[in-house]
This record gives sequence, C-alpha cells and structure tokens, in this order.
Amino acid sequence: MIRLDHVVGVRQFDRPLLDALFALACEMEGLVAAGDAKRLRGRILATLFFEPSTRTRLSFEAAMYRLGGEVLSVESGRETSSIAKGETIEDTIRIVQGYADAIALRHPEEGAAARAVAVARVPILNAGDGAGEHPTQALIDLYTIGRELGRIDGLRVALVGDLRYGRAARSLALLLSETRDTEIVCVAPPGLEPRPDVLGWLDDRGVRHREERDLAAVLPGVDVVYQTRVQRERFSGESPAGGGGAAYAIDEAAMARLPSHAIVLHPLPRVDEIAPAVDTDPRAAYFRQANPGLSVGRALRGACVVSSPLTGCGWLAGSW
Ligand code: CP
Repeated sequence: MIRLDHVVGVRQFDRPLLDALFALACEMEGLVAAGDAKRLRGRILATLFFEPSTRTRLSFEAAMYRLGGEVLSVESGRETSSIAKGETIEDTIRIVQGYADAIALRHPEEGAAARAVAVARVPILNAGDGAGEHPTQALIDLYTIGRELGRIDGLRVALVGDLRYGRAARSLALLLSETRDTEIVCVAPPGLEPRPDVLGWLDDRGVRHREERDLAAVLPGVDVVYQTRVQRERFSGESPAGGGGAAYAIDEAAMARLPSHAIVLHPLPRVDEIAPAVDTDPRAAYFRQANPGLSVGRALRGACVVSSPLTGCGWLAGSW
C-alpha cells in the first residue's frame, strides 16, 4: 500500500515509495489502455491555478476524467477567484475542500502548498509554488528517465539553465538524491545557479555534484540533459543571466556533442533554449516526457486518496 497524504515536495519520497509509485503508474497505463479505469466515479478534484499552465492543469484534469471522476477548475485564479478581492489562500482552501475530494494547487508564492496543507482536510497536490517546488513534474521526469534509459541509477545528469528560480529543476535535483551512483552537473548562467539548500541537501545525501559553465564541454560525458527555461516571470527587471542565456541553448551543434544513447528532457514550456531543429532527433525526449504526465498524475492522485487518513474513505483501496 502506498501511503501519501499531501504532495508538497519531493523530499517526502523515499526510494521504496518511488519504486511503488512508478510500478503503480505502469500498471495504470495498462488499465486505462484496456478501458478498465473508472475507479474515481463520483469523486471530484478541484484544480486551483493562480499561475498560467497548459500541461499540469490539463493532465490532472484529463487523468481525473479518464478515471471516471470529475473536475472543478479555477484557472487564472488571481483574476477570476475571490483571491482578487483579498481572500487568503487559507480561506479559499477551507471553502473549496467542501466541494472536492482533493485539491491540486498552483500558486506564485513559495510555500503556498504548505500553507494550504496547514488548514486542509482533503489531500493537497502541489502543482507548483513559486520558485519552490514542482513535485509531480519531477516524478514525471524521473519516471521518463527510467522509461527512456531503462534505469534511474548510475547516470550523469546535466541540469541546464535557470537552476535558481526553476522549480522543476529544483525538485528534480532534490529527487535525484533517491537514486544511486548519480552525478549531477549543474550548468547555469551566472546568477541562476542552484540555491544553497539544494546543494546542501545533495551534500548531506552524499550525491556527487559539480557546477560547470561550459555546456559544450559537459555534453559528451552525460546521459541526460535536463534543459530549462529562464523563469522571467520571477524577475522584476532584466534576467540575472543578461544576454548570456544563448550560450546555454541546445541546438544541432550541441546535439552533435551528445552521446548517441543520451536524452534531452525539458519540463516545458520552452522558449528559445532548445532549437526547433532538435525536435526530430530521437534523443529529444521532451515531448515523450509530457505524455507520462497522465499516468504518473493518475497514480499519484489515486495513491494520495487511497491512503489518506484525512479522507479516511479508502475509496480506491484495492481497486487498481
Ligand atoms: N511543466 C509545466 O509545469 O508546464 P505548465 O506550466 O504548462 O503546466
């Protein structure tokens, strides 16, 4: 039995839990393909999004519908919900939990998911809290690495781009600490290096890591390139990287330096940090990466509600 109450950050996942979750996701892919997945009939997920999203909100909602459940959705919540009138996130959660069995929350403030958990009686799924974490994305990313390369251990992973404000890269770096014999190579423009708490976590967990500036020199020695967008919405003025971001882009010349077995991932959306010409390269796995979102989101949500003592209903127990 997988035990999850809320999903706030990746540090709550240990290796046995990850292995069980990924096995469940694999199993559920088969169930949905066989048309045998209506276990959430009569259940409602609320998606509260106070920041833009394409993949995360729609994959949560698609997963719910595919499993026979229903969705209440707030998109552009800063403009369209009572947050615009000054309501706090705590009061919003107190109300919405009366309408739904679980809540997926995206919010611009780091720590918003933890604030929601503090008052919630239903499971909270963090769908991104500012520059904090994006745990479901990191789960999808690690699951994709396993599917693409056949393993999640013994890999050298280059995290590239905005490693300071990019919550997906931040969560993946933290989650990689649950893999074995991993080396992380951080390749960030000046000013966008990983925050000290991430590096400290990796040190404490004995994960090898180093910082490099020269992406071209790093590429021949890696198994995974995890490219990220500069999070311009987190800056009030110019990017700390200035105009230097182009030096960190993946183009055809960069791909020529990458080993034939390696893959390129990106949480998306991309802007200009991966050239469209790279899309047809078989090593470009970022659109394949977006597809497991459905199965992992489904498994995560199911596991969350199955095991949650908060709901206590056990309405998924034994049903997968
Ligand atoms: N990867 C991701 O979070 O995409 P969206 O912002 O489109 O949800």
